[in-house]
Order: sequence, then C-alpha cells, then structure tokens
Amino acid sequence: MLESFAAWLGGTPLTAFLENQSWAVPTVQIFHILAITVVVGAATIVNLRIVGVIERGQSIAALTARFAAPSIVALAVLAATGFLLIAAEPTRAIFRYLFWAKMALLLAAVGLTAGLLAGLKEGGGAFSDPAARVAAPYRLVAVLILLLWAAIIVAGRWIGYAEGWPGSPQ
Ligand code: HEM
Repeated sequence: MLESFAAWLGGTPLTAFLENQSWAVPTVQIFHILAITVVVGAATIVNLRIVGVIERGQSIAALTARFAAPSIVALAVLAATGFLLIAAEPTRAIFRYLFWAKMALLLAAVGLTAGLLAGLKEGGGAFSDPAARVAAPYRLVAVLILLLWAAIIVAGRWIGYAEGWPGSPQ
C-alpha cells in the first residue's frame, strides 16, 4: 500500500514542481524548521515551568493559554511541510523505520502533553496557582516530554542518513 502511495505521489504535478524548482525544497525546509522552533520553544517553556525551573511567577494555566494557539498552528505547518518534503522525494522518508519512529514519538509527545495538562487542570491548585508546587510524578512526565521532543528533532535530522528497509524502492 505504501509503495503504491509513493508511486502515485511521485507521478503528481506536485512532485514534478518540487523537483524542478530549486528554491522549493529549501523554502519548505525553512518553514518546517521555523515551526519546530515555535512548538519546541513553547513545549520547553511550559514543561520547564511544570518542573519548576523557570517562570515561577506565572501559573501553568496562563502559560498554556498563551502558547496553545501558536503551538497548534505550528503543528499544522509541520504536518503540511512534512507532507511536502515527502512529496518532493516520495521514496526517501516513508520507507525508513526512523521516519515512522519519529511519527510515533510525535504522537507520544502530543498525547502525553494533553494528558499531563488535563491531569494538572483536574488537580486544581498547581495549574492555576503560581505558588503551588507540582507533584513529582507530573514533573517527571514533563521531563519525559522534553526528552521526546529532543528525540523527534534528532530522528527528523537523521532520516536523510538512514537506509530504506530491505526491499523498499530507492
Ligand atoms: C506530521 C508531522 C511531520 C512530518 C510528516 C514530518 C516529515 C518530515 C520529512 C519528510 C522530513 C525530511 C527528511 C529527509 O528526507 O531528510 C523532515 C525533516 C525534519 N523534521 Fe519533520 N515532520 C513532521 C514533524 C516534525 C516535528 C514535530 C519535528 C520536531 C519537533 C520535526 C523535525 C524535523 C527535522 C529536524 C528535520 C530535518 C530538517 C532538515 O534537515 O532540513 N518534524 N520531516
């Protein structure tokens, strides 16, 4: 199924356009990387606040309210530009385990973030009161989420150097 998807995508005018315009892929990469700075910047600030290292004068509620919309927009930009990077060379990323590992790590980071914020919100005090300390299990999850974002960046950069899985189209 993946092979027929790659063959179909490779025959579309979108792939032809991305292949023929030398500025197109670097431009898409620039937007992919700018969107990473927004998502990972916001995740770093919110999670370090949950750990209790920075922004201790601000509630977690205030910080998440400020960063939620830009993060959602940036995630949409990442998905769109990621799709364009696949379209530019359809046999490059999707036949590499590392690409799917990156997608799984991304789902884990987003899912854990939603769960952590929902748990903190339900817990009350520490979510809205800047003076209340966040319980240790929540702080551990925040550290784990930061490590996941770091792993996603490494995986994304590494895709280009990985081999396709055995028997995949090159
Ligand atoms: C649905 C979301 C995403 C898709 C479909 C996607 C897809 C891709 C693809 C296809 C590439 C090109 C890999 C190559 O051929 O070398 C790439 C590069 C990259 N991605 Fe993503 N990506 C997504 C989200 C993210 C996120 C959330 C991050 C990090 C927080 C990220 C970090 C990177 C990095 C660092 C690169 C290397 C950029 C470069 O070397 O120019 N991506 N991505």
